[in-house]
Amino acid sequence: MINNTKIDYKICRYLIENMETAVLLFNSELKLTAINPAAEDLLQASARKLMGQRHDVLFPHNAECRDILTTILQENRTITEREIRLKLITGSTITVDFAATPLNRTQKLTSIIVEITHVDRLLRLAREEHLQEQYETTRQILKGIAHEVKNPLGGLRGAAQLLDMDLENEIQKEYTAVIIKEADRLSDLVDKMAGSNQPLEMKPVNIHICLEHVRTLISAEYPTLVNIITNYDPSLPEISIDQNAMTQVILNISRNAVQAMLNAPKASSGEPNSLQFSTRPVGRFTIGNTLHRTVLQIDIKDNGPGIPEKLQAKVFYPLITDKPEGTGLGLSIVQNIINQHRGLVEFTSQTGKTVFSIFLPLMND
Ligand SMILES: Nc1ncnc2c1ncn2[C@@H]1O[C@H](COP(=O)(O)OP(=O)(O)OP(=O)(O)O)[C@@H](O)[C@H]1O
Ligand SMILES: [Mg+2]
Repeated sequence: MINNTKIDYKICRYLIENMETAVLLFNSELKLTAINPAAEDLLQASARKLMGQRHDVLFPHNAECRDILTTILQENRTITEREIRLKLITGSTITVDFAATPLNRTQKLTSIIVEITHVDRLLRLAREEHLQEQYETTRQILKGIAHEVKNPLGGLRGAAQLLDMDLENEIQKEYTAVIIKEADRLSDLVDKMAGSNQPLEMKPVNIHICLEHVRTLISAEYPTLVNIITNYDPSLPEISIDQNAMTQVILNISRNAVQAMLNAPKASSGEPNSLQFSTRPVGRFTIGNTLHRTVLQIDIKDNGPGIPEKLQAKVFYPLITDKPEGTGLGLSIVQNIINQHRGLVEFTSQTGKTVFSIFLPLMND
């Protein structure tokens, strides 16, 4: 906030430090003189390492960014370039909008302020929001159908029970038993499709308890799968979750991974099937509209055949399956539980590497 006469530098600093946009300040020799945490995140290096470095050291692979800064020195005007591919020190490439503005004192350029917006991230957020709306609509429709199906089903079941009481013939009793059993199965199916209405029982839990529980279950269920590798960060604090629901999430994803690996023809590389659980904290991560200071990331990785291309856009919808015996509800239940925890679940998948990542807020701003 700026009052009439005096700038409150403390608040300005607070704002810049908490902005999602990466901000860098260069002097007239194109050396870095200030950087905010979002820029450290984006460039994947600490302020200590970057301060004082020249622009060609900071953007070694990005002639476009370097040219913008040198042009500003000559022409003293604002330049904005959209959707530049920025190669990071780590080797990965991201898409950014790059805006640079000269700052002048007595008509002489003294510094350049650079704002970098991570566009991939904005695209991800827009896609996530769109998917979220679609899931919500589907869920509302399914809830409506579930309600309409369950009412007559209750009547049908009740009538079969009454009939059963009057019957003496054992063969006829078998028929009523079939009606009751199938009515229960159908009722259970529509409940699962519509998502649980049970309130979550949130309490602080060490996430590794859920992962280890699933590791034991999977090892017992599929003893032929030899490798379950774990790579946990033991320093992670407890997190407020519904332990049973979260175990269900990890189990559904892991079961899919194991089923895919066991059903696929053996990879030509002869690599053994492997399932990997890992955990780590991630700084400054946005879920929905909330920027979280730290989130917990859980990765479940397999080296199976990958999710079939044609299913990838819709695997989280109910009834999507490529298995003869599958109900296609596993991932829709996962999505529902993670939403209830205000988290995010996404995946990347290709032959030999499928990773499901779950993000859960540890702390938010
Ligand atoms: N790790 C994975 N590797 C390959 N395909 C996967 C993987 N995870 C999910 N899939 C694909 O996504 C589909 C949907 O999974 P989902 O768990 O929702 O249903 P399902 O496993 O088919 O049935 P259900 O879990 O209800 O028994 C699967 O049928 C499978 O094709
Ligand atoms: Mg499944």
